[in-house]
Amino acid sequence: MIGRLNHVAIAVPDIARAAEVYRTTLGATVSETVPQPDHGVSTVFITLPNTKIELLEPLGQNSPIAKFLERNPDGGMHHLCYEVDDIRAARDQLKSEGARVLGDGEPKIGAHGKPVLFLHPKDFCGTLVELEQA
Ligand code: CO
Repeated sequence: MIGRLNHVAIAVPDIARAAEVYRTTLGATVSETVPQPDHGVSTVFITLPNTKIELLEPLGQNSPIAKFLERNPDGGMHHLCYEVDDIRAARDQLKSEGARVLGDGEPKIGAHGKPVLFLHPKDFCGTLVELEQA
């Protein structure tokens, strides 16, 4: 069912510093910081030859990554994003197999302008999984 790894997301306390580490120390191609107020985060995308890294910094009150950073003050891997051809078909199949979809279960428009869903980490080896319509 799942296709390409679209991105690995890393939550960080200081996105400018994290972007600089990727740009300078690791020599990667790094985007500008984009505030995403609808998602409660600012994002930086790092383009690698085979996938992307998404840096996430909390934005505003009630950011969905605030608790994660309380537990991981230096930052850490937050989620994996896999591409699927048909996000509603994937959701229905996963639900029929007992997986929990977060929120109201309806796809939302994610940081790349495509429909996304999140799956409960307890059902996927302790890792938050994002599905994105390819
Ligand atoms: Co993501």
